[in-house]
Amino acid sequence: MHIDDLSLRNFRNIADLRLTPGKRINLLVGRNAQGKTNIIEAIGLLSTGQSFRAQDFRDMIRWNAQDAEIAARATCGAGADALRVSIDSRRKSFTRNDKRVTAAAAGKFFTVLFAPEEILLLKGPPASRRRYIDSIIFQLSHTHRSNSMQYEKIVRHRNRLLQDARLSDSARREALRPWDEQLADIGSRIVMARSEWCRRINGLLPERYRAIAPEDAQARFVYVPHCGANAVEKGIDSVKERLRAQLEERRSDEAVRGITLAGPHRDDLEAEIGASRVKHFGSQGQHRSFVLALKLAEMDLLREASGGEEPVFLLDDVASELDAERNRFFFEVLGAARGQVFITATTDADVRLPGVGEISIFDVSGGIATPRK
Ligand SMILES: Nc1ncnc2c1ncn2[C@@H]1O[C@H](COP(=O)(O)OP(=O)(O)O)[C@@H](O)[C@H]1O
Ligand SMILES: [Mg+2]
Repeated sequence: MHIDDLSLRNFRNIADLRLTPGKRINLLVGRNAQGKTNIIEAIGLLSTGQSFRAQDFRDMIRWNAQDAEIAARATCGAGADALRVSIDSRRKSFTRNDKRVTAAAAGKFFTVLFAPEEILLLKGPPASRRRYIDSIIFQLSHTHRSNSMQYEKIVRHRNRLLQDARLSDSARREALRPWDEQLADIGSRIVMARSEWCRRINGLLPERYRAIAPEDAQARFVYVPHCGANAVEKGIDSVKERLRAQLEERRSDEAVRGITLAGPHRDDLEAEIGASRVKHFGSQGQHRSFVLALKLAEMDLLREASGGEEPVFLLDDVASELDAERNRFFFEVLGAARGQVFITATTDADVRLPGVGEISIFDVSGGIATPRK
């Protein structure tokens, strides 16, 4: 799969951009703050439906503009699709071939992102790891995305009820009842999806990790659902039941703190090498190797899911982040990858590419990308 052409309008510092990338390696070169990462962000948004760095989607609209738009023609499988994301002050909306969809490309157009932020994935807060696993699943499943959106609404609504000082205890309890039921219902589906896709990643991860760090023990990315791994093992009905029970148990705590205290918005994921947790015991090198292996496993997973097509690889500022040895390894892997790649760098000297041939270079400056002759 690959992008045949990309247009951005009022997206961050980019007023109007049209890019016709090559099918293989595309190098976006430019000084800092010129818009290179913004282009990567836009491509990621097309495939996952969410930004890897915006806290609020409105931040992506160009300052003083009303709305933003990303449009691309992408070849996926046998055909080409017109993908579009429109962002205004109220919402992001997606179309595929002019039909409204929940995410422009779910099940179709896959990307793997490798950005400096992700080196910190294992050290950062649980929210970043939930976001990470969800962004993979969003690419594969429409349902997970709509479930997640609905789930967020349920939690927001519950929290409002928990904070509403005008409600008596019994009135609050009554008002919460249908929301508890929805939380258990939609929440259990989210838990099962995360569990399933983590399992699949773990089918691919150890081999990738072993190739990077042959002397190390086995790598695993373990799902730590707030409802407990036991419930997940028994299946969706027991997860649902467990969520209901947890809400009941936390009822008085919730009333005091005014927030929802059970459900998949409290899940985490844990990186393990052998029996030890990378978060607490891993060296800097292990952290990086783990994330790298995870990314490669992710690439395998998406390739499998698309029946053997290469996902698009997005590499933001990677050359500056990895030490020389891993850098070399990484570009070797990249050289072996057959698909379309977007790489950003401040100079093309940063990116010492192996003999991959067919490199398209774009100079990015002030939100404008100019193909280099
Ligand atoms: N909503 C926005 N409107 C206009 N400019 C923005 C917006 N969001 C970010 N920017 C600008 O985009 C630039 C950063 O672009 P980025 O793609 O991160 O640069 P780099 O080329 O270093 O990767 C900064 O100058 C920032 O101020
Ligand atoms: Mg950047």
